[in-house]
Amino acid sequence: MDSLKVGVLCGGRSSERAVSLRSGRAVAQGLKRAGFRVRRIDPKNPRQTRTLLRQIDLAFIALHGHGGEDGSIQKRLSALEIPYTGSGERGSRLAFHKVEAKKIFDRLKIPTPEWTVVNRKNWKRLAGFPAPFFVKPVADGSSIGVFLVEDFKRSAVKIIHALSCYGELLVERQIKGREFTVGILGRKTLPVIELRPKRSFYDYRSKYTRGMTDYLVPAPIPEAWRRRFQQLAGRVHRALGLRDLSRVDLVTDSKGRPYVLEANTIPGFTELSLLPKAAGEAGISFEGLCRRLVEMAWLREKRNGKA
Ligand SMILES: Nc1ncnc2c1ncn2[C@@H]1O[C@H](COP(=O)(O)OP(=O)(O)O)[C@@H](O)[C@H]1O
Ligand SMILES: [Mg+2]
Repeated sequence: MDSLKVGVLCGGRSSERAVSLRSGRAVAQGLKRAGFRVRRIDPKNPRQTRTLLRQIDLAFIALHGHGGEDGSIQKRLSALEIPYTGSGERGSRLAFHKVEAKKIFDRLKIPTPEWTVVNRKNWKRLAGFPAPFFVKPVADGSSIGVFLVEDFKRSAVKIIHALSCYGELLVERQIKGREFTVGILGRKTLPVIELRPKRSFYDYRSKYTRGMTDYLVPAPIPEAWRRRFQQLAGRVHRALGLRDLSRVDLVTDSKGRPYVLEANTIPGFTELSLLPKAAGEAGISFEGLCRRLVEMAWLREKRNGKA
């Protein structure tokens, strides 16, 4: 397996391009340290991508957001019969589309904050939705386009602007309490991390500016909470049909009841990102983590009789 030529897909055209380039750089270094031959590929350039994809044995997807996390690159790689890390096309699509995922959570009674969807025609009905609430693009990440509304009337202009950008918005009741994230790697559920952003919520700046958020690894919580959160993350991972890795974001209310916000199928992958942090706490180094993801993808391919 060590002689495999791995293409690290990173960059792309999504709003999370900058983060993805950082993830891709770290993954490429990790894989090199693990002994693989590595090539970084940026799908922003379609012609170059086509040529480069033909030269690799396996793709490590370090793309975030549209074009990477939404199932489209997975579909393309499957068609080219190139094995790739992480979730398949369907799971990726479901997890990335927050509304599709919330429908599944509701159906399976996985606790998630009360929600609705509005568009340019019916947004005024938000006057009747219990504030404070969060407004989010139905499919995006890194907290891009996410904002908190305390008062509907005062935020109307902001909502109209967001609708003009996205067409449709997911609206979710704010859960006031603490915030956690739980990573899954293969059959293992990783230690719970608590996030304590210094701003009002875990927005883009809190995510990517050093010192703007305190991370507590492992989270200082009772054993029973830890077990409940990890079980919940496992249920989410299975409910969405995810594979190999994911990171489930959740918030708790004042009584410690957890509510799932979303599952990330390609979470941040810099050495400082949350899933690598949780893996580190579980004794798995960054290069060990990169190696395992390649192994899982390669073994799947072998089981399917293709490699
Ligand atoms: N219903 C909610 N209650 C409390 N905080 C929320 C809620 N929805 C979102 N947030 C805050 O906004 C952040 C981003 O929301 P999330 O749904 O995870 O979107 P993204 O895909 O952009 O990460 C969360 O990490 C959390 O800090
Ligand atoms: Mg999130």
